[in-house]
Amino acid sequence: MKHNKRTFKNMLSLTLMSGLILTAPMAWAGEIEKAVDYRQGVMNVFSWNMKAMSDMMKGKTPFDQKVFAGHARDLANASGLNLMPGFPEDSESEESDALVEIWMEFDDFEAKYKKLGEAARGLSEVAASGDKASLGEALQVTGKACKACHKKYKN
Ligand code: HEC
Repeated sequence: MKHNKRTFKNMLSLTLMSGLILTAPMAWAGEIEKAVDYRQGVMNVFSWNMKAMSDMMKGKTPFDQKVFAGHARDLANASGLNLMPGFPEDSESEESDALVEIWMEFDDFEAKYKKLGEAARGLSEVAASGDKASLGEALQVTGKACKACHKKYKN
């Protein structure tokens, strides 16, 4: 009887312990998933606006300076978000294309993000008044800021 009770207690504490051991990484995995969703969501906001602008520049859609300027403003606002909390340390996952280099060179990663913000604000200023050619140039500068980061830090 006594023996059985102890076995039961041991089993119970083992179960509780493995529960604790398992929930910590699971909670972390949940946090990673949320961060990945967040950063990918913001990236999709970027590309939605970039595509609309580049379609106009390519003549796929009619050029309309007001509409263009609206996309440029939205991109400038979105790239003003502090996206770094969306990249918690070592938040790699199967759903993510983020490379581990991000956390090895986080300062550079952050600097590349700031560059995008600057380019997008520049684009938005030009879009408010400039001619089509200068818009095209500013759009290219912005596109390069996307690519400079993807090349190094995205699968
Ligand atoms: C500072 C670095 C950086 C900059 C700048 C950047 N990106 Fe990204 N982007 C990433 C990383 C890292 C990923 C992978 C994120 C992941 O899958 O966790 C990504 C993913 C994406 C994705 C895929 C999203 C998905 O749903 O999987 C798109 C689209 C994208 N970026 C578009 C853009 C566009 C457009 C710009 C410029 C306006 C831009 N990005 C600027 C780092 C950057």
